[in-house]
Amino acid sequence: MTDTQTALVVGASRGIGLAITRQLLEQKSLRRVYASYRDRETAAGLLEINDERLLSLKLDVTNPDDFKALADTVKTNGDRPDYVVHCAGILHEDALQPEKALSQCRQDKLLRMFQVNSIGPLLLARALVPLIPKDRPAQFAALSAMVGSIGDNRLGGWYGYRASKAALNQFMRTLAVECSRSHPQLCITAIHPGTTDTALSKPFQSNVRPGKLYSANRSAARILKVVSAGEPSQSGRFVNWDGKPIPW
Ligand SMILES: NC(=O)c1ccc[n+]([C@@H]2O[C@H](COP(=O)([O-])OP(=O)(O)OC[C@H]3O[C@@H](n4cnc5c(N)ncnc54)[C@H](OP(=O)(O)O)[C@@H]3O)[C@@H](O)[C@H]2O)c1
Repeated sequence: MTDTQTALVVGASRGIGLAITRQLLEQKSLRRVYASYRDRETAAGLLEINDERLLSLKLDVTNPDDFKALADTVKTNGDRPDYVVHCAGILHEDALQPEKALSQCRQDKLLRMFQVNSIGPLLLARALVPLIPKDRPAQFAALSAMVGSIGDNRLGGWYGYRASKAALNQFMRTLAVECSRSHPQLCITAIHPGTTDTALSKPFQSNVRPGKLYSANRSAARILKVVSAGEPSQSGRFVNWDGKPIPW
């Protein structure tokens, strides 16, 4: 990632997004890291980082105006984001729990999943792609999930989460086709981080096989390695944390 100058992480308050932000800041060549959080209450880990290159901003991925404000700030600062990672996502939230059966599917909850997990990353792209440099390599990545794979779906359940990640993958693929014309040096990646020890996975960790639950730091390092190595010819890929393709 030696040529990267400006990185931007959405959903950096905690979990994998916070670990990615911390690791990006270890790269001394980076001039600026934008990191978004939704709520100060859950963002203590981000807000306590003391680094003049870090610019933390409030953003809710369900609010298009927040993306516009983010893009305006980046533009006003004269930055061209060449490394963008969308980490925000939900599997459960307040009364929303992943469905075990069809009878538990509710319109409002399904819509909420799509709003955060699928449409959020696309709104980020809409706001930022015009600012991504065209004259040097650049990366745009979104954290997807293995369970978003339709081909790999043998267990069922989690209707909303699965479908919202499948929709995210299709959005990223479609975006990659369009950007191959406008941004020939950009690589767009949807990546499965591996099962990671965060608030998102906490209620389901008892089902994880021993040795298959990874720390946020470990997942962040793997994600950065795979995303950084992305070539424009691979743009629109859906990959595992080890870089191997996942069936759509
Ligand atoms: N952990 C895993 O095992 C696993 C596996 C597969 C995929 N993933 C994916 O990896 C990504 C990161 O998850 P994580 O494990 O790090 O979970 P996490 O610790 O729960 O973090 C989720 C992040 O998303 C943010 N977020 C949620 N709704 C938002 C909204 N409306 N606007 C802005 N930010 C919002 C949260 O902000 P707040 O602090 O404000 O809530 C938080 O920063 C997600 O997309 C998830 O689907 C995780």
